[in-house]
Amino acid sequence: MVNGAYNYRSRFLLDLFQAIVLPGLVLTSLTHIFDIRLGLLYLPALIAVVPCWGITKGLIRNILRSRQQQVLNAKPIPCVVGEWPGNIDVLLRMTRAFRTSYILDVYLELFEEYQCTTLNTRILWTDSIITMDQEHIKFVLATGFNHFWRGKYQKERMERFLGQGIFNRDDEIWKMHRINTRPFFARERVSDFHTFETYTSRTLDIISNFSAADQAFDAQDLFSRFALDAASDSLFGKNLDTLSAALPIAGQTRMGPKGSATEDGWGSFAHAFEMAQQVVTNRARLGPWVWPLMEFWKDKNKENVEVIHGFLEPLVQQAIELKKKMAESGVTSPIEEKTFLQHLADSTDDPIIIRDQLLSLLLASRDTTACLLTYVVYFMAIYPDIARKLRNEVLEHCGPRSPPTYEQIRNMKYLRAVLNETLRLYPPVPLNVRESRAASALPCPDPTFPADVRPLYMPGSTPVIYLPLLTQRNKALWGPDADVFCPERWTEPARIAHFVSNPAMFTPFSAGPRICIGQSYAYNEASYFLVRLLQEYDIFSLAPGAQPQGSLPPSEWKGRRGRQAEERIWPGAALTLYVKGGLWVRFGKADSTPL
Ligand code: HEM
Ligand SMILES: *[C@@H]1O[C@H](CO)[C@@H](O)[C@H](O)[C@H]1NC(C)=O
Ligand SMILES: *[C@@H]1O[C@H](CO)[C@@H](O)[C@H](O)[C@H]1NC(C)=O
Repeated sequence: MVNGAYNYRSRFLLDLFQAIVLPGLVLTSLTHIFDIRLGLLYLPALIAVVPCWGITKGLIRNILRSRQQQVLNAKPIPCVVGEWPGNIDVLLRMTRAFRTSYILDVYLELFEEYQCTTLNTRILWTDSIITMDQEHIKFVLATGFNHFWRGKYQKERMERFLGQGIFNRDDEIWKMHRINTRPFFARERVSDFHTFETYTSRTLDIISNFSAADQAFDAQDLFSRFALDAASDSLFGKNLDTLSAALPIAGQTRMGPKGSATEDGWGSFAHAFEMAQQVVTNRARLGPWVWPLMEFWKDKNKENVEVIHGFLEPLVQQAIELKKKMAESGVTSPIEEKTFLQHLADSTDDPIIIRDQLLSLLLASRDTTACLLTYVVYFMAIYPDIARKLRNEVLEHCGPRSPPTYEQIRNMKYLRAVLNETLRLYPPVPLNVRESRAASALPCPDPTFPADVRPLYMPGSTPVIYLPLLTQRNKALWGPDADVFCPERWTEPARIAHFVSNPAMFTPFSAGPRICIGQSYAYNEASYFLVRLLQEYDIFSLAPGAQPQGSLPPSEWKGRRGRQAEERIWPGAALTLYVKGGLWVRFGKADSTPL
């Protein structure tokens, strides 16, 4: 099932062969050809030739790279200099930080230590770039798009999970997906308010029961179900009905891989789906030499992905059968009447491509939208003034009961500002990776070398981790209040002008040819839900007592710089951002009359 081109085991064996067996073979052949008798020295020589070979290869590569650098008239990206060989201490520091530190803080520390915004961490003598520089991110995603791709190592990590889907392919297959998907995000489709109403009202019914009993509930879990049910209905014409399954219960539900663990039929899908994301993330942290070794005998995603596929395959079969029936009866329906799944089934006979693309869209729409709504509710809970102001806008534009229209949503400036400000501080995709193809020059001058405008040399076949969460909290771009949640910054003309002339400072939906397809859908869906929510509720409070053990922020975060000092939840990242253990909250019903 796993595409041969991205099979991590064969790649790992080949690398091992080239690093260890090949130098030994070359040594043995040379001693034969030149008839050299090493005698007792043969074994030590065999051992010594391996590092010598590696070092020689490294030196040759460095010479070639510095030549390229001269040709490009560029200077090297500043490199982290650790205390141990191969920067192993830096690697350990990062590994520790992923478990206990505030999200991405270890990267921020490195940037501060080296006084720059693009760095080479060079772990285990291998170039690896991290960047929070908005100009470099713009180059990677947009202006220098052709110099980068998702790359071999990323595909290897995600192959079993995302397979041939849009997130895991470049070039032709990616283009095909992009072209096939676009018509389903035209304006009429993305303002499918009828579907939004169905799932919003189901979700509000659930909340109403919790609220009547003054019980805490996990908003993150509930919003994930809402987003999945709504997306599956609008895209596939099939409600996966996860809102009907058993919900997590305060004090009983354990912590899952991200938020709450759920154990029922739906839970096994959600659990597998979240585990699969966690496995992929851990692989990225371990790097392309360590994880294949640890998973050589057992692919940690095998079982997770079997559960996921078991859930999707019937849907794919139904779509293919429908297509056959239509063909037999000679009926054709126009694209406007088709669901995305039917359209997908028309465009290819390959059930695997259909399945993988289905999964990609579920991933794209569920966790991101749920993350946005979760953090908006978090802010409404910790800043009641913001909830009040937002509610006033909602009541002013839409009244206390009627469903909002597209026009009304478009006119709610404060709502949009709250969404943007939430996406700025908590971008649902807080970090991401690309790999360079050939070497290139990262264009802009590094702010730390104001006198030197030479570009930075970006080596070929090298990963770049880019970090929108750090860019979007960078004081140099956003001012001294960069860490403060302040929706008003999106309504002040001077600040808007600054953003308009620097769009790369805010890229929650990415940029360039691979920019998010679902942006309008997400804004509409989140807005619709929030309008309905605020028509009914006006009190939002956190329920820290209901958070599962180990999910509250560690006390040592207090007194540190940035948002972590006042953080009341633990933000985590596994492909997408989430609240560790879920966001446990209580909502209070508003009096029927507007304020
Ligand atoms: C708040 C909600 C959302 C956020 C913040 C978000 C963010 C992003 C980001 C950052 C990417 C780029 C990923 C990459 O290139 O590696 C992306 C891609 C994508 N998004 Fe979204 N997204 C959201 C909602 C949605 C929804 C609701 C859908 C569909 C129903 C969707 C569909 C897609 C697709 C298909 C891609 C792949 C585009 C490509 O590779 O060409 N997104 N999104
Ligand atoms: C809410 O509670 C009522 C009464 O216990 C129950 O009949 C109803 O099914 C519940 N609704 C939801 C959506 O859980
Ligand atoms: C929100 O951000 C988008 C970019 O994603 C921008 O086009 C829009 O003008 C912003 N809206 C408001 C109200 O700030």
